[in-house]
This record gives sequence, structure tokens and C-alpha cells, in this order.
Amino acid sequence: MHPSLAQSIPKTKLLYIQTFGCQMNEYDSARVERMLTLQGYRLTAEIQHADVIFINTCAVREKAEQKVYSFLGRLRRLKAHHPGLKVLIAGCIAQQLGKKLLTRFDHLDLVLGTRSLAALPNLLEKIQASGVRLAHLRDEENSSDPSRDDCLTTVRGVTAPLTIMQGCDNYCSYCIVPYVRGTESSRPSREILKEIQALVAAGVGEVTLLGQNVNSYGKKTVHELSFSELLQKIQAETAIKRLRFTTSHPKDLTEEVMLCFANLECLCHNLHLPVQAGSDRILKLMNRGYIAAEYLEKIERLRQLCPDIGLSTDFMVGFPGETEQDFQDTLRLLEQVQFDTLFSFGYSDRPHTKAIRFPDKVPDRDKHRRLVELQALQAEITLCRNHNEIGRMREILVEGPSKAGGDQWMGRTQQNRIVNFESSVDLTGQLVRVRIVAAYSHSLRGELMNGYVGPSPSSPNTR
Ligand code: SAH
Ligand code: SF4
Ligand code: F3S
Repeated sequence: MHPSLAQSIPKTKLLYIQTFGCQMNEYDSARVERMLTLQGYRLTAEIQHADVIFINTCAVREKAEQKVYSFLGRLRRLKAHHPGLKVLIAGCIAQQLGKKLLTRFDHLDLVLGTRSLAALPNLLEKIQASGVRLAHLRDEENSSDPSRDDCLTTVRGVTAPLTIMQGCDNYCSYCIVPYVRGTESSRPSREILKEIQALVAAGVGEVTLLGQNVNSYGKKTVHELSFSELLQKIQAETAIKRLRFTTSHPKDLTEEVMLCFANLECLCHNLHLPVQAGSDRILKLMNRGYIAAEYLEKIERLRQLCPDIGLSTDFMVGFPGETEQDFQDTLRLLEQVQFDTLFSFGYSDRPHTKAIRFPDKVPDRDKHRRLVELQALQAEITLCRNHNEIGRMREILVEGPSKAGGDQWMGRTQQNRIVNFESSVDLTGQLVRVRIVAAYSHSLRGELMNGYVGPSPSSPNTR
């Protein structure tokens, strides 16, 4: 190439993305990647070469917040060596602290609120051109913003998250989410269907519908589908092989949605249903809107309709005022339900929330002891439930090579269990049948059944 020509070709700008927090943040980060790819950026895995660093943050627990600050702190040096570098922060901490972040971290260039993502390309251009530092928190994003549909060329892998609603109206007394994500609003169903069709065309086999309270989808919008109607429409009008959704609130889990597990072929037999606690007194203080018996009734109904449903949950220990007796109620509920897996957290004070002012805070050492006890009990249950899988035939969606390398591949059952198996051919993206031959604490081992490959990816779902 002629040297003058080489000089006239602009260098591709490199983008590094760091995502903290929930799957909704992962979805937003993928959107950012799409938007900035269209602006000529290319994703890099090497942070030291980046021209732009985008950090998507989570504020849900104190520990989540600390992780972000320690990451941000480490960037100060990098910026000192690379003054042209632009550091952008988005997500829930950005929304919570806004401009204050610019004061606290002088190496930050742009703070972007949770409903301001669509403004990113213009704002980035502005800060690149003028060198100003900005915070943009206005609630100006509407769901039909064009960047949503632009292209899905950055889709990687077999599974994809898809946010179908924003915000939360539940105001659980410990939770910061309503204050940083705003009130509930649902995306139009036609847009969701279009996006799933595009994902299928890009090779995605499994979509997880996301929302902080996904099963209240459509409730507040006139002429919009209900959540169960949306699930039915996805089954009827798209060729997606597998569908999951998260997170469901127990009080909004209707009979119609539960019936979908029995009736919709694409819907995986799997539900994440956070319970938080087993004590009615604590559930009331948490403002969860149900008592333990109601939760147990829903679990019973789900298992009646869909006997092999995989169940997971969230528990919080050490909520203000939680006594040893309350904690024993939590353990009892855990034993009664026999979840497949769970996530557990020690309560931490969050700004804006009611619980921050509640008396009788539980000392850290008690929270820690309760967490250890709860997790040990669940580890036994999980292992036992995994052992029960031995000898069963399970359909898995192959996600790619297993960590072990060689001829080892990895997929998930409908119940969301990881299965490793051997195959001399690459079956990524296919539904295959395996026989479970061994069980461990976090995964299963399967043997591929020859000759079975699941429904064709190109035909719409029929039933
Ligand atoms: N919308 C979902 C989950 C939101 S956050 C739901 O309603 O369940 C994910 C989990 O973080 C929660 O289920 C809860 O267990 C935990 N969590 C939220 N706020 C917390 C806090 N202040 N301290 C500790 N854990 C918290
Ligand atoms: Fe937070 Fe409760 Fe809303 Fe979940 S349902 S996001 S825990 S307020
Ligand atoms: Fe965290 Fe915000 Fe998600 S607080 S859990 S990133 S909605």
C-alpha cells in the first residue's frame, strides 16, 4: 500500500466493555457494543489498548458497589498513560450518583443514566470533540428507539438475553432497584417478537426474557399482551428452540403463566422464583406481598402442572430484625421446597430504601454464619438432586466446547443443569439427547445418544 494511502485510513478505535450486575446489564452492554460498532469501534479484550472503556455498573448490594469502585480506581493509572482514553460509566451506580461520580473520579469522562443509553453515540462524539466531561441522566429513552433494531451482528453464541421491561414498582423495603431503574414500563410486544426473529436468524437457539419483575409484563399498558399471552405468541410466531424468563415475583405468578410450562413446547421447564425468606414476619417487613404458605402453594401447583420443573431461588439472610427463629423458618422452607439451586446474600443497607432506617440490624458475623449454614444445606440438596438425574435421558442445547477442552462439549438441560459430554463432531447450537451417567456438585456428565437432533431451527414452533 502507498504510504500516503495508509496514513489516510483512520485507525479503528478500540472499545473495552466491563459489565457488572445482572443479565439486564449484559443486554445493555451488548446494545452498546452494537451502537458503537456502527460508529466504527471494534471490541477489544485488552484493556490497555482501548480508546474507550465502557463500564456498566450494579448498585444492588454494597459488595457489588465496592467491586465497581475498585475497578474504577485501577483505571486511574491507565488514563495517566493514555490521556486520549475516554472512560464511560453507565448502569445503576451511574444513575444513583450522577454528577457526583465526575467529582469523585477525575478520570471519568461520561456518566450515563439507566434510561439514557440511546444518547451514547452522540454524547461520545461530543466528549471526543470538545474534551468536556458530562453526566446525562434524563429519562429520555423510549422503547422504540431505532438503535434497538439496527443490527444484531454482534450476537455471539447460542443463548441471548432480551430485556422486555424496565424498572420495578414493588418497592421491597431493602431494594434500590426502583430508585435506579425507575417505574415499570414494558416494551411493545411486536418489537420483542421482531427481535426474537432476528436472533433466531442470527443463529440463537435460546432466549431469556428479562425484567426485574418479568411476569407483570404488560400490566400497565393498555392494549398490550399479558405475559402469558406474550409467551404464547412467541411460541406461535417465532422459531426459537428454547425460551426462559427471569425474574418472576411470586405474587405475580398467575395460573395462566404456570400453565405455559405445561403447554408451550419452547418454554424450558425451569423457573427462578425468589422467595427471600421463610418467616412471614420478615416477609412482611420486606414488603414482599406474600406469606410462606402462598409461596409453597405456587410451588406445589407448578410441580403438579410440570413435574420435572427445575426450580431456583434467592434468599437473603440477616434482614434487620431477623431472629434465629426467623432464620430457622427460612431453612425449613428451603428443605420443604428442595430447590435445584439458589443464590443467597447477606443483607446490606442501600441508599433510599426503607430498611436502611429499620432497627435491630444483624451483626455481620451472624449474617455470615447464617449464610454458611444455608449454603451448606443447599449444597447437600443440590448434590442429591443432581444424583437423581443419573440414568435419565435429557435434551440439552449445546452451547460450545467444554472448559476441559479436547472432544468435550457443554450444554444445558431445560432445568438449567450443565452437562458435559464427548463428541467427535461440533454440535454447537443443536438440541441433542444425552443419558446422564455421573453427577457432581455443579454439573452432570452425559453420553450422547446417537441419531437424535432436536426440532429443525428454521420451522416456526408448532403444537
Ligand atoms: N427483581 C428480583 C431480583 C432483584 S435483585 C426479585 O424481585 O427477586 C437480586 C437479589 O439481590 C434479590 O433477590 C435479593 O435477594 C438480593 N438483594 C437485593 N437487595 C439487597 C440488599 N439490600 N441486601 C442484600 N441482598 C439484596
Ligand atoms: Fe427489588 Fe423487589 Fe423490585 Fe425485585 S421486586 S427489583 S427485589 S423492589
Ligand atoms: Fe444491579 Fe441494577 Fe441489575 S442494581 S441487579 S444492575 S437492575
